[in-house]
Amino acid sequence: MSHNTEVHHLTTSYEARPEEVHRVLLLYSGGLDTSVMLKWIQDEYDAEVVALTVNLGQPGEDYDVIRGKAHQLGALECHVVDAREEFAHEYVMPAIKANAIYGTGYPLFTALGRPLIAKLAVDHARKTGCDTIAHGCTGKGNDQVRIEATIATLAPEIKVIAPVRTWRMGREEEIAYARQHGIPVKGGTEAPPYSIDDNLWGRSSEGRWIENLDHPPTDDVFTLVTRPEEAPDEAEVIEIDFEHGVPVGVGGERMELVPLIERVGEIGARHGVGIVDHIEDRIVGLKVRDIYEVPAATILLLAHKELEVLVGTIHQHQLKPTLDQKWAYLVYAGLWWEPLRTDLDAFMDASNRQVTGRIGIKLFKGSARVITRSSPNAIYDASLATFDHSGGLFSQEASPGFIELWSLQSRMAWRVRERDEG
Ligand code: ARG
Repeated sequence: MSHNTEVHHLTTSYEARPEEVHRVLLLYSGGLDTSVMLKWIQDEYDAEVVALTVNLGQPGEDYDVIRGKAHQLGALECHVVDAREEFAHEYVMPAIKANAIYGTGYPLFTALGRPLIAKLAVDHARKTGCDTIAHGCTGKGNDQVRIEATIATLAPEIKVIAPVRTWRMGREEEIAYARQHGIPVKGGTEAPPYSIDDNLWGRSSEGRWIENLDHPPTDDVFTLVTRPEEAPDEAEVIEIDFEHGVPVGVGGERMELVPLIERVGEIGARHGVGIVDHIEDRIVGLKVRDIYEVPAATILLLAHKELEVLVGTIHQHQLKPTLDQKWAYLVYAGLWWEPLRTDLDAFMDASNRQVTGRIGIKLFKGSARVITRSSPNAIYDASLATFDHSGGLFSQEASPGFIELWSLQSRMAWRVRERDEG
């Protein structure tokens, strides 16, 4: 029996031993953590760093500035990938078809983005000859699970390092490290900012007072959605057109998916729609609170669900929510590449074939309420639904016969119990 004499004992198959790290693909956001990391990896591992920044439609990023900063910090190369189309079509679209919500209102924007970001990291690592991928996730969150599960699945030959999990620097130490190494720091040492993650499909804030569960939201957390109190006094109706479960138009105007999501998001945000104050069960066991701003997802998921109600049968409506929930959980839990997700997508595609039509939603000071529906595929006949007359497919004379048989077992069971109770 041989003894393991390695200095660096690793628990997993995919974590890098320091001596294996020569060229690192760093998932770079331009923020403090990954900027410090860009420098730290070069020093700590004596390795080269290729930076990769992924555009998933997060508002307000200046990619030239990010690229410049990466080069300034010594990156060998810096790649910026515009993945908005792929994100919208391959990740958000299936989420809409599956009405994807985790917990009591999280539309999964981060969870949907991570497998794509990690897949792009694998592609670029292979293209640029990197042996290792580095990311800025902490050891307490879901994102490390999503990113590392993706890399370990798609590229078993590539190793991973997660410096934030191991370097034991707090925010103050990171700022000190940054100062010491000439890394530009925005803001400085005043109150630490919220921890933000955002993309086309939504925005989350964590940290600071959000960690006090009885602390109500302070106004400064909302940077996407207008506070409902300040939203317009006039309601607005937004009409969404769907074809086969996919949103294709707003207010009668046909649009591509990315600009459509942006348009719906803007209109919803103006009316204060899509604020979710969410207590969440993370995969790693922790319970945390997130403040979400998800105007586009709130409106589009509401409209999609309503249209499903119109075109599906009672039996479809009883089953699909359980599959929707399974889909959302797999994605939340970092198992995007799990075959069951693909199997479920096949079901979602099939059940969404009929989901074509238009839904009108009234937006007013934070609320979104369906007010009109129409579909060529509606399983609905206004003349059958009216109270009085029989005719066509419905016979009121048949109703008593139905009731007799429908209630048969319940009536028999009732009698048995009555007999036993004397
Ligand atoms: N709680 C959400 C999730 O787990 C959002 C996480 C946001 N990520 C972040 N690094 N701030 O998907």
